[in-house]
Amino acid sequence: MTRHIIQQADTSEDGRRTAPAASRNTVPLIKALGARLPSTGRVLEVASGTGQHAAAFAAAFPALEWTPSDVDPGQRESIAAWHQSTRLVNLLEPLAVDVATSWPIAQGSVQAVLTVNLFHLIPEVLVRRFFVEARVALSDGGRVIVYGPFRRGTTFVSDGDQAFDASLRARDPAIGYKSVEEVTDVVESAGFTSVARDNMPANNLLLTFATA
Ligand SMILES: C[S@@+](CC[C@H](N)C(=O)[O-])C[C@H]1O[C@@H](n2cnc3c(N)ncnc32)[C@H](O)[C@@H]1O
Repeated sequence: MTRHIIQQADTSEDGRRTAPAASRNTVPLIKALGARLPSTGRVLEVASGTGQHAAAFAAAFPALEWTPSDVDPGQRESIAAWHQSTRLVNLLEPLAVDVATSWPIAQGSVQAVLTVNLFHLIPEVLVRRFFVEARVALSDGGRVIVYGPFRRGTTFVSDGDQAFDASLRARDPAIGYKSVEEVTDVVESAGFTSVARDNMPANNLLLTFATA
């Protein structure tokens, strides 16, 4: 399966990557996540990318134990560099989680799974697999929180979203925007119920689901 890393980033001397897109959405995400994350427990972040989000989120939510992850070894090096530099006790070392395979997480051991800007970069079959694996990793009552760009039905929210989707599909016809409805169907068939749909800047959505 092709891996897709579509993220512009600068790298500091100590190896921490910083992506402008992640810098822009960090504060809005922290505000919205405050109402959606559990107050305590373990969070697995899938596809953490640079790791700058993991560092910011672990700092913003000190009562949560934050485990970042990514499929890509270079991204994991950057996440590890953020881990080193922040020295937050609740931020753990990155795990190698590939949504195309089984996750290296004990069954029922996390209270929330978060992913930011992943679903438009993977095929629908991997979105399905994501929720199956998330259900295994989560304790009863656990939550999955998904942030990113989505179609509403067959409609794109803006011309820019439509153009971005077209550029993704030109790279790989299997990827591109998913509709909110298709994700909700997938989620419900994996044993979750929809909890909230938050409108975010730049037409993005934060979707929250709970184990049924
Ligand atoms: C656009 S970046 C988003 C990163 C970060 N969440 C953020 O918002 O800054 C997409 C990330 O997904 C990761 N990724 C791509 N395919 C993946 C897969 N099959 N399993 C896990 N992560 C994957 C990439 O390595 C990359 O770090």
